[in-house]
Amino acid sequence: MQFKTDFLIIGSGIAGLCLAIKLAPLGHVTVVTKKAASDTATSLAQGGIACVFGSDDNFDLHQQDTQRAGDGLCHEDIVEMIVSQAPDHIRELERLGLEFNREPNSDMLDLGKEGEHSRRRIVHVGDYTGRSVQKVLMDSVGSLPSVKVFEDYVAVDLIIESMIKSYSPSSIKKERCLGAYLLEVATGEIHTFLAPITVLATGGSGKVYLYTSNPDVATGDGVAAAYRAGARIANLEFVQFHPTCLYHPKAKNFLISEALRGEGARLLDPEYRPFMEKYDAKQKELSGRDIVARAIDTELKNSGKDCVYLDISYRSADFVRERFPNIYETCLGFGIDITKEPIPVVPAAHYMCGGVVTDSYGETDLGGLFASGEAACTGLHGANRLASNSLLEALVMSHRAFLKISEVFSDLKKKLFPPVPPWETRGAVDLKEAILVSHNWDVIRRLMWNYVGIVRSTKRLKLARQSLSPILKEIQQHYWEYILTRDFIELRNLAQVAELIIISASKRKESRGGHYTIDYPYKDDWNWRRDTIVQKCQKER
Ligand code: SIN
Repeated sequence: MQFKTDFLIIGSGIAGLCLAIKLAPLGHVTVVTKKAASDTATSLAQGGIACVFGSDDNFDLHQQDTQRAGDGLCHEDIVEMIVSQAPDHIRELERLGLEFNREPNSDMLDLGKEGEHSRRRIVHVGDYTGRSVQKVLMDSVGSLPSVKVFEDYVAVDLIIESMIKSYSPSSIKKERCLGAYLLEVATGEIHTFLAPITVLATGGSGKVYLYTSNPDVATGDGVAAAYRAGARIANLEFVQFHPTCLYHPKAKNFLISEALRGEGARLLDPEYRPFMEKYDAKQKELSGRDIVARAIDTELKNSGKDCVYLDISYRSADFVRERFPNIYETCLGFGIDITKEPIPVVPAAHYMCGGVVTDSYGETDLGGLFASGEAACTGLHGANRLASNSLLEALVMSHRAFLKISEVFSDLKKKLFPPVPPWETRGAVDLKEAILVSHNWDVIRRLMWNYVGIVRSTKRLKLARQSLSPILKEIQQHYWEYILTRDFIELRNLAQVAELIIISASKRKESRGGHYTIDYPYKDDWNWRRDTIVQKCQKER
């Protein structure tokens, strides 16, 4: 079937829904999401949103902290713009009904502390900020008649002008995105969604790694689709590993928020001895995430044990239960009372600092295609993201995208759409053996964890690329031979993003932020103080 809409937004986390709410008065907004609308990384965010509200704080300090974390690669203009616009957008969320924690008997926001922030500046709702944000945004979207949400619709590919056979690529000055082909999971049908404006708000790619704090939906769909369509992708080697995910055989991707360390929790080695002083004598537990994650990795490799520990039990039990209700309850469910004992933790892939290159309005290289949130690379995070800057980026950039879209929309709408052909299945048959997908899925995630993880080497990166190559070929072949399923589409995207991470990491001959290689252990500002860009050339598309 063919659907026409004014705005097609792929993804239902903070980036997608904030923009949907803003665009609603301008036309018909279609939000598509590949599972339930609440299955997003936003829902899992525990920490909060970084914003200057403290009397001892100012925008310069927040900018400096962001840039220090970003290790020389942040785009200063973007940092300044996002940090300085933050308070307005926090107030906007409050107007939608979000109730951030306040100080006792006061109107003042309760400001949390996290690693590398020189001041208390994290606005939060307990330790389940993301869940509250998601709910407020979904409630708001639900009340808007011009916004329609399609659940269980998976983006197969973007539709771009040069795909249309009647167009010769040389006649196209700037490639234009016309919408996307989307798989309706319930029927297996692939529909054509046409829109003058398409937005990739698809989140991150954490599932490319064996261990991740991300939800199952984080399979790099936006990055992979934008790459295939010819957009530039930047800085994919900068994968942020969160130092502390719960280590428990039954716990899947449960994060132990950095806010615990902000409130004084200590990291202990397998013999229950503090160790962070050895790695960063000044900031210790509040050092950069890359440093803390590598320190834990080193402790685990040296001891041969499976986990280290995070201990907040010396703070009063009332404080811990009140400030971290979600973490307290969840750990208790696994038999760990965090008010009395240390929590077993391990690092896990958490956030992609790179993504689809956008300008300061979220516009990508392709006309009519925007990207926002973790799928995008705006330049805010540089080589390593400052904690709690991601929801903030999505909030501000969705607003910026709204400003640009309002400006260009009426002209774009007038532009003639070429006749877009329906999806061709070309005699594809049912892939009965799901094992072919799940096997490759496992191989890729293990390969990436072992060879392209927290500590890298040239040799392992080369081996990773060699091992991935036959899998990519097999996937390409299956793509044409078999009827597409959600699992297969995700595998295809995951494999694509894995390849791009390996290519980007192999290019960078230095260590910086989230990229550390034993062959080039130092930062090389002279040669490498620049973004890593990958782009598919025209004839490969
Ligand atoms: C956390 O709560 O530790 C995660 C916050 C973030 O990644 O920004």
